[in-house]
Amino acid sequence: MKILVVNGPNLNMLGKREASYYGVKTLADIEDLVSDKARDLAVDVEFFQSNHEGAIVDYLQEAAQDAEGIIINAGALTHYGISMRDALTDSRLPVVEIHLSNIHAREEFRHHSVIADIAIGQIAGLGWQGYVFALEYLASHLKRS
Ligand code: DQA
Repeated sequence: MKILVVNGPNLNMLGKREASYYGVKTLADIEDLVSDKARDLAVDVEFFQSNHEGAIVDYLQEAAQDAEGIIINAGALTHYGISMRDALTDSRLPVVEIHLSNIHAREEFRHHSVIADIAIGQIAGLGWQGYVFALEYLASHLKRS
């Protein structure tokens, strides 16, 4: 069972950006923690990060063919990335949306997510642990179905 873990714009800067919202771990640190959990759960994970919506669309079109679920922190694309949303829909895979920060407790423009209604669910505000919880949930969801 392979699960894609996709990160959007600026998430390559974790560890250097707004620690009060995003914590101090780098994306590599988080990917290591997710990999540890994946090993425990006996699932495969594949990581991808891009600052470009088109690159995320290209990746999803290709990688989703060989995967069973998607965890995505789309960064700012969450709020306006319609082509990314379409690629997620076209993948026909279960999607879990995650955010390090609680987008609902921040600026108004962050409250709306263009992927929330096509995701199984959303985790927001639990920091890096949200990635691990999303993996646990998606693995159990896929094993059940
Ligand atoms: C984010 C929240 C977004 O609003 C923001 O643009 C990000 C990160 C989060 O993880 O909290 O880049 O997705």
